[in-house]
Amino acid sequence: MSKLTPVLSANWDQADSFTIDGYKRSGGYTAVAKALAMNPDEVIQLVKDSGLRGRGGAGFPTGSKWGFIPQGDNKDHYFVVNADESEPGTCKDTPLMMANPHVLIEGVIIGSYAIRANYAFIYIRGEVTHVVRRVQQAIEDAYKAGLLGKNILGKGFDLELVLHVGAGAYICGEETALLDSLEGFRGQPRLRPPFPAIAGLYAKPTVVNNVESVASVPAIVNQGVAWFTSMGTEKSKGFTLYSLSGHVNNPGQFEAPLGITLRQLLEISGGVRKGHKLKFWTPGGSSTPIFTDAHLDVPLDYEGVAAAGSMLGTKALQIFDETTCIVRAVLRWTEFYKHESCGKCTPCREGTWWLVQVLKDLEAGKGSEADLDKLLDLCDNIMGRSFCALADGAASPIISSLKYFRQEYLDHLSAGACPFDPMAATLFESAGVK
Ligand SMILES: Cc1cc2nc3c(=O)[nH]c(=O)nc-3n(C[C@H](O)[C@H](O)[C@H](O)COP(=O)(O)O)c2cc1C
Ligand code: SF4
Repeated sequence: MSKLTPVLSANWDQADSFTIDGYKRSGGYTAVAKALAMNPDEVIQLVKDSGLRGRGGAGFPTGSKWGFIPQGDNKDHYFVVNADESEPGTCKDTPLMMANPHVLIEGVIIGSYAIRANYAFIYIRGEVTHVVRRVQQAIEDAYKAGLLGKNILGKGFDLELVLHVGAGAYICGEETALLDSLEGFRGQPRLRPPFPAIAGLYAKPTVVNNVESVASVPAIVNQGVAWFTSMGTEKSKGFTLYSLSGHVNNPGQFEAPLGITLRQLLEISGGVRKGHKLKFWTPGGSSTPIFTDAHLDVPLDYEGVAAAGSMLGTKALQIFDETTCIVRAVLRWTEFYKHESCGKCTPCREGTWWLVQVLKDLEAGKGSEADLDKLLDLCDNIMGRSFCALADGAASPIISSLKYFRQEYLDHLSAGACPFDPMAATLFESAGVK
């Protein structure tokens, strides 16, 4: 069975897919010529009509975002690509930029032209040095080919593209923290309004888009709205990269129409590792409420996942089989959020610290059933009461794990240890504890 629709990943198996020649050989940089022959407003309308929604997590319509940039305001406009990709489990933008950095650059030129920006930035996390080198090389090659700089393709459009390397902080993926960091400040989220479309980078109108959103644009320009909308579901159009990781036979990127189910993706990817069964999974990275084997047939589009109580997020499908301790997994994620909390607001700064303390005890089998309510109470004081979505993301796995696996938390308490710990299992056995 093949439900895959490789577009972004179509040429990843070619040895030179990342070079400008390789990209051009597969039709690369033809969309930009087409777009520059159009009026910028027509390009925005095309992206609006395609129904493309942001692939960075929130699913906001890309064309509408571009349309918010005020025109004729005599101000500089900026186009910023969010390549920070730091969410646990999320791993699609890095392979995309490694395998085909030029499709991103082509998307940047089209997007910048549409919103009438002459400066664009790619903000990339500093840890991925190999990706930084690859994208930097691609930018240099695009300049040499007359695709960046002055008078692109002789059409009178100028664009300077700068690759900015971040210092490695999850919060710098939040778009306003990213802008602060890009300006040289400590990356912390800004109060909104004003939104970036009005006062973004250097207080000028700015679009911030995810790598995959931007890279999806050239294919839409080339192949048209009817082609794009023929894939996906009613409100979630097109194809997207689903990243399967964890206890699956063939982890990796699977490009498929929005609305495919995990059951179908597991069939394509060889299933959960042999002899084991699915226990829980994340539909969109660690900040989205977990699902269980009861959710195998949930359509993985924005509406389907929301209706089932979670979020599509970044489509990072982390798969865990029955050998995984839910309390330990949730503790690991919570430690990440505690570490990455930027400290700007109290519920998140203090709350994530307390969540870790309570979870550590629970994982070790210490505490009492009242601590489960304490966890939920802490989450209640964090969710919706913090400055940005990082804190909501920290609470989501905890609340959902208690919803589906409360008994496993209680088993830790009655055993006085983690039942998944091999040492504990030996001790229980010798003591005759089941
Ligand atoms: C804590 C946090 C981290 C985020 N990290 C990223 C990221 O690494 N990449 C990304 O594209 N969006 C990230 N986002 C979402 C961005 O704020 C923003 O919604 C996105 O870049 C918009 O692009 P899109 O409309 O193309 O999806 C993050 C949000 C939060 C709250
Ligand atoms: S919620 Fe957390 S990460 Fe976001 S601003 Fe507050 S302290 Fe910073």
